[in-house]
Formats: sequence, C-alpha cells, structure tokens
Amino acid sequence: MASQRRGAFIVLEGLDRSGKSTQAAALVSRLKTINGENSAKLMKFPDRTTTIGKMIDAYLRSQNELDDHTIHLLFSANRWELVSAINADLAAGITIVCDRYAFSGCAFSAAKGLPYDWCIAPDKGLPEPDLTVFLDLTPAVAKLRGGYGEERYEKEELQRKVRVLFHSIGKQMKGGKWQEIDASSSIEEVEKAIWKHVEPFSDGCTSSINGLWIE
Ligand code: ADP
Ligand code: TYD
Ligand code: MG
Repeated sequence: MASQRRGAFIVLEGLDRSGKSTQAAALVSRLKTINGENSAKLMKFPDRTTTIGKMIDAYLRSQNELDDHTIHLLFSANRWELVSAINADLAAGITIVCDRYAFSGCAFSAAKGLPYDWCIAPDKGLPEPDLTVFLDLTPAVAKLRGGYGEERYEKEELQRKVRVLFHSIGKQMKGGKWQEIDASSSIEEVEKAIWKHVEPFSDGCTSSINGLWIE
C-alpha cells in the first residue's frame, strides 16, 4: 500500500537577530509559490498569543520576574499546547516552517546555568523536526543588527554561551536532521543556503514523525 504523504516539519534556529524570522517568512512564501497557498504554514515559538505565551512575553520584556526553572517549563508548555495543531497540519499535508523550537529552549536555559539533562526532559517526545537549519552568526555581528538589546536575553555574553550550546545540541542530532549555515552573508545568500537543505522536503514526507530526544 502506498504510504500517505504528510507535510514536512522544518525548524529554523539561531541566536537572536540571526535572521530566523526574515528567513522563515521567505521560506513559507517560496513553498506556497511552488505548492499552493494552503501548502505551508509559519509557526513561531514562543507563540506569544496564548495565555502561557503572554506570560512568556511579559518575562522577555522584563515586565515580570520568574524563577529560571519556571520560565523554562512555560516555554516547553507553550510548545506542548500546540502539538495537536502541529500534528493535524502535518497529517493534512501542510508543511510547517517553525521559527525556533525546543533547541532554543534547551540552549537558553542551559546557558543560564540549568543542567542540560533537566532542560531537555520536558521537551522529550515533542514532534521531531524532519530538518532543523541553524543560522550561525557571531554574537558580535548579531549585535549590529536592527532591534538588538530590546529583550532580556539580548546580551552578548549570554548569546556567546547560547551559541556554544546550540553547536553541541546540533552535534548530537543524527541523520542530517541538523544543518548549519553561515548567516552572516546577505539575506538572499542565506535564503539560497537554506533552500539547498529544504528543497528535498518540498514535496512533503512519507515517514512517520518521531518523538524528539527519544531513543
Ligand atoms: P531573528 O528573528 O533571528 O531575531 P530577524 O529576521 O528579525 O532575526 O532579523 C533581525 C534584523 O536583522 C532585522 O532588522 C533584519 O532585517 C536584519 N537581517 C536579517 N537577515 C539579515 C542579513 N542576512 N544581513 C543583514 N541583516 C539582516
Ligand atoms: P524570539 O521571539 O524568537 O526572538 P528573536 O526574534 O529576537 O530571535 O524569542 C524570544 C527569546 O526567547 C529569545 O531570546 C530566545 C528565547 N527562548 C527561550 O529562552 N526558550 C525557548 O524555548 C524559546 C522558544 C525561546
Ligand atoms: Mg525573530
């Protein structure tokens, strides 16, 4: 029996101001141009529109104070509350382009000093992305870009630690599911580099979705 095609689950990760939101929007438009208006969807984490997302938003804008463990679990809960929507879209053949995911959750909280194993635990079993493209950029270059410094984590020292953690998370991802690209070139060049990795997924996937960080 021929297996049913589903949408692909593509994640863009990177430091603050590495170009994720710019590139996620461009990627969704490109996929829609190729496969039709209803073929792709943009998601982002944190999703600041939900009740949990509003607490996260207030924290990031330094309007409330939360224990590091508490905010970590809120970020994770914000992903879990959208899992049924993710699964439904993928099953309906819609490709999801997701701006940040659990890798940010782990990299930022571990950079703040929480134990790595504790950080990944609440996100274990989330839908595993078919592909994560990491937009690599030095914090020094990111700092020169528009809007930097407005939110809680946009500090060069913390971003340096986050970058190291992203690299180590990526090394543990098997089977080409993590791809790193140089995000310091022009928007057009970065777009081309991302597309090289995404194009093989542009018709969707036939494999079933795995659970993230589950052996
Ligand atoms: P992120 O979502 O990763 O924080 P954005 O896509 O919002 O990053 O981009 C941050 C800023 O950098 C924006 O002002 C954007 O126009 C600019 N920018 C994005 N990509 C590039 C690039 N390749 N070169 C220079 N500036 C860029
Ligand atoms: P985001 O809105 O994507 O910021 P930007 O577009 O500037 O990259 O993310 C906001 C911040 O939240 C960012 O500093 C990373 C942080 N974050 C976590 O600490 N944990 C998480 O699980 C996620 C998804 C983001
Ligand atoms: Mg963004």
